[in-house]
Amino acid sequence: MVQAWYMDDDHSDQRNEHHKNPPHFVPLEELLKLTGVEYFKLNVPTLDTDGVLDKIKKDRGYTYEDELVCSKESLPNYEEKLKIFYTEHLHTDEEIRLITEGSGYFDVRDKNDQWIRVHVVPGDLLVLPSGIYHRFTLDNNNFIRARRLFVGEPIWTAHNRPSDDMECRQKYVKNLESGKFVTV
Ligand code: LAC
Ligand code: NI
Repeated sequence: MVQAWYMDDDHSDQRNEHHKNPPHFVPLEELLKLTGVEYFKLNVPTLDTDGVLDKIKKDRGYTYEDELVCSKESLPNYEEKLKIFYTEHLHTDEEIRLITEGSGYFDVRDKNDQWIRVHVVPGDLLVLPSGIYHRFTLDNNNFIRARRLFVGEPIWTAHNRPSDDMECRQKYVKNLESGKFVTV
């Protein structure tokens, strides 16, 4: 099951957990309010037969799907890619990841610009809203397999921070401030 917590201030080894002392966990409803990040739990062995993923894709218009394996052996330009993933950035569209094997950390900025670390494991589907500052790293297992979903033709472009003047960023900040991200 996914867990999220506020990060400590020492980010020297990105693959460590980086809990505060004492740990400060963030429940998922709280994560939604603080960041707009949505979460779904899926059952990996029956992903393609139980209809749950299909329903999410249909409801949300996710027409594109592919798979990314992140490991030294399977990812071309591994070190370089990981560096890019861990550089704080945003996208003009949602970032949707469904973990089917392995694990990793998505770090997302909360309302007050504090890092929340989300530990993802198989069955976790995470939707990062357009315009949120975030980054990704493998954990000490050094392996993750994830499906990437997208509405229409995918745009993977990462806009590094600062990108505060971008329309998607301004819209995101407005949504956060107006309390648009609440459980339905
Ligand atoms: C991405 C993740 C790593 O943009 O944030 O693919
Ligand atoms: Ni990203």
